[in-house]
Amino acid sequence: MAASMLKTQCFIFYLTIITLFSTLAVSDHRSNSDVFGKDISPSSLGLKREKLSHLHFYFHDIVSGKNATAIHVAGTSSNNSSLPLFGDIYMIDDPLTINPDINSKTVGKAQGMYAYSSQTEMSLLMVLNFAFTEGKYNGSTLSVLARNEVLNTLREMPIVGGTGSFRFARGYAQARTHSITLVHAIVEYNVFVFHY
Ligand SMILES: *[C@@H]1O[C@H](CO)[C@@H](O)[C@H](O)[C@H]1NC(C)=O
Ligand SMILES: *[C@@H]1O[C@H](CO)[C@@H](O)[C@H](O)[C@H]1NC(C)=O
Ligand SMILES: *[C@@H]1O[C@H](CO)[C@@H](O)[C@H](O)[C@H]1NC(C)=O
Ligand SMILES: *[C@@H]1O[C@H](CO)[C@@H](O)[C@H](O)[C@H]1NC(C)=O
Repeated sequence: MAASMLKTQCFIFYLTIITLFSTLAVSDHRSNSDVFGKDISPSSLGLKREKLSHLHFYFHDIVSGKNATAIHVAGTSSNNSSLPLFGDIYMIDDPLTINPDINSKTVGKAQGMYAYSSQTEMSLLMVLNFAFTEGKYNGSTLSVLARNEVLNTLREMPIVGGTGSFRFARGYAQARTHSITLVHAIVEYNVFVFHY
């Protein structure tokens, strides 16, 4: 009787030890430096309430001359056509101003590129960042990855992310051509973004 109770106690002790060790093994594994992803709370990044912001500015794209802000870097039309064609790629560093006048206050730059991405329409692939330099958005960026059918009155482009004030940004930009010549296009942008 006593022997069998001792046996049972030994068995329970054994089970406890096994359970304890396997638990330790699991928790040890989870805290190991070889774990590269884990759940955290938004508050640990200081994230509070999500905000919706509206930005309004004018985008200046100057494709030739002394003050060019867009440079043809690849594609077929460089060898001699005034009109860009499918495959043409322009690198841009376009000023963003508060008013249509290029000499009005600059709020940032649109830096990146656009490419003529349709064989049948005037449609661009836009891959760029709005890099803001004014006010509370100074140093923050918004990233655009979009199709831009430039002859349409109103174009809509997704905002796919951001940095600084615009961490976790998502939203859209609406573009309307304000004026256009062969050299200088002025485009009005209204940007709506959720961010923290
Ligand atoms: C280039 O920009 C300067 C400063 O805004 C301006 O005075 C000049 O007329 C511009 N040149 C051309 C060719 O547009
Ligand atoms: C570029 O040059 C090549 C060779 O001369 C010609 O075949 C082609 O049509 C030209 N492209 C354009 C856009 O003018
Ligand atoms: C385009 O053609 C014109 C006239 O034929 C010529 O003067 C010019 O140098 C050409 N430009 C390029 C980039 O080939
Ligand atoms: C924006 O930030 C940069 C870098 O911190 C600073 O040099 C610049 O003066 C700021 N511009 C404005 C308009 O606040």
